[in-house]
Amino acid sequence: MTAVEVMMGEHRNIEPMLEVVRRACFQILEGKDVNYDDFALIIEYIREYADAYHHRKEEVMLFNRMVEHLGVLGEKTIKYGMLVEHDLGRMYINNLEEALKNLKAGNEEAKLDVIANAISYTDLLKRHINKEDNVIYKFALRELDESVINTINEEFVVYEEENKATREKYLKILKQLEDKYIK
Ligand SMILES: [Fe+2]
Ligand SMILES: [Fe+2]
Repeated sequence: MTAVEVMMGEHRNIEPMLEVVRRACFQILEGKDVNYDDFALIIEYIREYADAYHHRKEEVMLFNRMVEHLGVLGEKTIKYGMLVEHDLGRMYINNLEEALKNLKAGNEEAKLDVIANAISYTDLLKRHINKEDNVIYKFALRELDESVINTINEEFVVYEEENKATREKYLKILKQLEDKYIK
């Protein structure tokens, strides 16, 4: 598999978790008890799989090359678009974690912050993924030299091999939450 195929495949593993987040939030809105253990798993998945495993890989294997080789347009698109969005996502998840703590401590109003930050994250990520699938990755494949693309593909093969256990761990968590919230 090429690097872009791997990354697009990872997007398909992030999207169902966004749906889990939405359903978990809707349950809060309906007045059901908040399942803190499930939210802890959701946050772990988002931080470890969507961010540390996927976003970090984009940043250190693809986006850095685009900034380096694709001139002003590459730099603007990545630094002021994609990287800003990765950081915004991290902020929403930190806020979500904080709101859950406040809610657990008895502040009922924090439900608003749980839902607002969780849904903001899902909306941001859906748009971000759509942009990468349809614009950013195509831009990279079209404009980067073949030798650079080959290097990225080779780095991905090594990374995928070395991180098999992490990948399997988080795909298991995804399945567990999908079975509970979606199926
Ligand atoms: Fe990204
Ligand atoms: Fe991505």
